Amino acid sequence: MNFPATRLRRLRRTAAMRSLVRETHLHPGALIYPLFICPGEGVRKEINSMPGVFNLSIDEAIKEAEQCAALGLGGLLLFGLPAEKDEQGSGAWADDGIVQQALRELKRNRALDSLVMIADVCLCEYTSHGHCGVVARDGDHYHIENDSSAALIAKTAASLAAAGADIVAPSDMMDGRVDAIRQALDFSGHEETPILSYASKFASAFYGPFREAADSAPQFGDRRSYQMDGANLREAMREIDQDIAEGADMLLMKPAMPYLDVIREARTRYDLPLGAYQVSGEYSMLHAAFQRGWLEPERAMMESLLSIRRAGADFIVTYFAKDAAKLLR
Ligand code: PBG
Repeated sequence: MNFPATRLRRLRRTAAMRSLVRETHLHPGALIYPLFICPGEGVRKEINSMPGVFNLSIDEAIKEAEQCAALGLGGLLLFGLPAEKDEQGSGAWADDGIVQQALRELKRNRALDSLVMIADVCLCEYTSHGHCGVVARDGDHYHIENDSSAALIAKTAASLAAAGADIVAPSDMMDGRVDAIRQALDFSGHEETPILSYASKFASAFYGPFREAADSAPQFGDRRSYQMDGANLREAMREIDQDIAEGADMLLMKPAMPYLDVIREARTRYDLPLGAYQVSGEYSMLHAAFQRGWLEPERAMMESLLSIRRAGADFIVTYFAKDAAKLLR
């Protein structure tokens, strides 16, 4: 490339020219909106640290879903806030569990057929201790059991599939859970239900606001014995290899913006559909700056989403899904 023969600014001269040579695009169909379903009727409770995001009772969730469908979003990711929690997290696999009830209602509504209903599969919203699995205590020590947790997680996935989930998405990080889920699904006649595995999920400070939204903060300790160390990219690839070997149909990377290099590496190595989750803290952080007038909301939001697409994500789970879709139409 020789200046002055080569002048890269030639292709940036007008909006039309820039549009013609744009390499990365966002579209509403590749955005997934998380919903937090709570008991009750007419409940629409805003989450303090996440402006514009709500705990919704099922009737309100239906209205929200109708808006999402009208905006052309790709799907919803469902989380539940059960009326009661226990040591095992039995609300996660209850036939009349909060997400199971919501799924039945959502799937009954034909106006929502364009949305893929994804059920997050985890125990932390349902356990009294807030961990993502079974806690074994020994005096002052405790650990999160792997295999017994994976068994309960598999049971939860089968229950969510039975209630109508189009995709189940395990977010617990137990070893072997994808295999356990695949077997539980196949055994219960849900061999057509795909698994979207949160294959590389890092122990991240950026989940803070979610734990308020889903009331799922661990009551003691932290999640570092099961979620990944943020320093490890090669280990993230081993997690993905393992999940693919166990039968994952799609991959979800999480968080997104602080881990764009991990998303890029996964895109380069694997051909499975790849999603990224722009998590609660990423949303809250941007909103805090919007509130102070420190960042331009629309531009900063779109730039953040574009960075995730450019890193290689096919689809994005984001609390900005509706706002972005409105701008994209
Ligand atoms: C459940 C789960 C979490 C998130 C998604 N699924 C919380 C956690 O692992 O602590 C975080 C999502 C977000 O921050 O938006 N295990």
